[in-house]
Amino acid sequence: MTIPHVPVLLHEVLESFRDLDEGYFVDCTLGYGGHSSFLLEAHPNIQHIGIDRDQEALDFSTQRLQPYAHRSTLYKGKFSDIFASLKETPIKGVLADFGVSSLQLDKRERGFGFESDTLDMRMDQGESMSAKDIVNGYSQEQLEYIFHHYGEIRPYQQLASAVIQVRNQAPITSAKTLSHIATKLIKGGKIHPATLMFQAIRIELNRELEEIERLLDALEAKRDKGAIVALITFHSLEDRLVKNRFKKWTQKCICSPHALQCSCSRDNELGTIITKKPIVATPKEIKQNPRSRSAKLRVFEFKE
Ligand SMILES: C[S@@+](CC[C@H](N)C(=O)[O-])C[C@H]1O[C@@H](n2cnc3c(N)ncnc32)[C@H](O)[C@@H]1O
Repeated sequence: MTIPHVPVLLHEVLESFRDLDEGYFVDCTLGYGGHSSFLLEAHPNIQHIGIDRDQEALDFSTQRLQPYAHRSTLYKGKFSDIFASLKETPIKGVLADFGVSSLQLDKRERGFGFESDTLDMRMDQGESMSAKDIVNGYSQEQLEYIFHHYGEIRPYQQLASAVIQVRNQAPITSAKTLSHIATKLIKGGKIHPATLMFQAIRIELNRELEEIERLLDALEAKRDKGAIVALITFHSLEDRLVKNRFKKWTQKCICSPHALQCSCSRDNELGTIITKKPIVATPKEIKQNPRSRSAKLRVFEFKE
């Protein structure tokens, strides 16, 4: 079995869950089962739940996790939806390794890569809308909004105009054509000039930030006693959401900032931030797996 994805920060993830002895563990972004297989191996008494919205990833992991099938259940769907059906299930550990997998990026027909002949970028191939609909159907204002807010691209207006100019000649049907538009306009630094544009379209299409917000809402509502939550992000927009929410979860006082005096019990914190600073990959890992370069791991422990 050739494994198409190397799990990032594996050692650090395993360390975060080292005290997990039994109970339910949820891997929100199962992918190719990298983190999950090591966690299942290290903790023979845990019950594992794995979720992914990508059928290809799920099929692969079903095979890979076969030796653990008696204590592992896999679901196809969005991680933001799963917790509604786990209301009565006490969870001990939650992992999410956001973003796309190496296979999604590398497989040309998935349309995530800059040189791809298609323009797709759907994580769930069952969804009807693809990147092609955004690139060819969004108005100038809509394109500007996503390039500005989800790509943080400085010349976001020019980039939106350039896309519209090209598509006015003929519909844009490949990632290759799209990346050439960015290459002409944006100076490449350390990253490919089209990186942020592709990031913006992917985030919009797959509702990636909304998914993280909804996951954090679900974890906040559930707040299982003693649960460890480990979240890996790949860019500042994702990381900001996690960082701010963890900070909110440590607030003791929940009185209005306008209140003259505190009238709450000042014991409203939900738990402790385990990682005061995010954990990042070592130079050795970055060399072996360049994708780990931008990974940040933050860990929170809900109180007992
Ligand atoms: C970085 S990969 C995970 C790799 C995995 N940790 C491993 O070691 O093989 C992220 C995975 O999360 C999935 N994913 C992203 N957003 C999702 C969501 N909202 N719901 C479910 N799966 C999602 C993607 O389809 C992708 O397979």
